[in-house]
Amino acid sequence: MSKTFKEMNGVYILDHPLIQHKLALLRDKNTHSKDFRELLSEVAMLMAYEVTRDLPLRPVEIETPMGMAHCHMLEGRNIALVPILRAGLGMVDGMTNLIPMAKIGHIGLYRDPVTLEPIEYYCKLPEDVQQRDVILLDPMLATGGSAAAAVDFLKMREIKDIKFVCLVAAPEGIKHFHGAHPEIPIYCAALDDGLDDHAYILPGLGDAGDRLFGTK
Ligand code: PRP
Ligand code: URA
Repeated sequence: MSKTFKEMNGVYILDHPLIQHKLALLRDKNTHSKDFRELLSEVAMLMAYEVTRDLPLRPVEIETPMGMAHCHMLEGRNIALVPILRAGLGMVDGMTNLIPMAKIGHIGLYRDPVTLEPIEYYCKLPEDVQQRDVILLDPMLATGGSAAAAVDFLKMREIKDIKFVCLVAAPEGIKHFHGAHPEIPIYCAALDDGLDDHAYILPGLGDAGDRLFGTK
């Protein structure tokens, strides 16, 4: 069976046909909030499948109606999903559909429109977050400032096992993020061309938070 991702220098591009199809619909400027929300959630669910590929399994014996079967179940490693507010929220439902045992933390950041620096306004993580593998969620990796700052917060709390999952990444964002946190894998559905003068991703999908919540 062929793999449904390409990996290069810690960046995984998830090119499963269903992900690519839904991403095309998300990019379409005629896709409005209701469909955008549903599609983002569906893509996040499909991405959860790839991102959890390395979860450890333990052997178990299961009694079927016909006899004993040698099976495998998850070892029970704990996961925390941490969306970056606001747009990361749109990926939580899809992820929890496949990882229902995950706890959820939140990091609130917004990009200052002038300096483009990330400003923190909220951070609440599960009490036992140090014992969990953290999957950090944000659909957009543009300059990389927000995602890199969110990882700084996680590392300040001595969280070591972190994966970053986004939808669309710009080369500038990958460079900044991996410059600051080279050991953290980035999972995305597309690597785009670059940024415009206001640091929006080209061709991107516009402002993910506004499209998700209908605020513009
Ligand atoms: C968007 C997006 C990311 C950030 C990416 O959020 O959801 O968090 O921009 O840009 P960066 O890589 O250049 O930091 P935004 O700051 O617009 O806040 P919002 O989600 O509240 O709209
Ligand atoms: N934030 C977004 O929502 N979209 C972009 O293209 C860049 C940052």
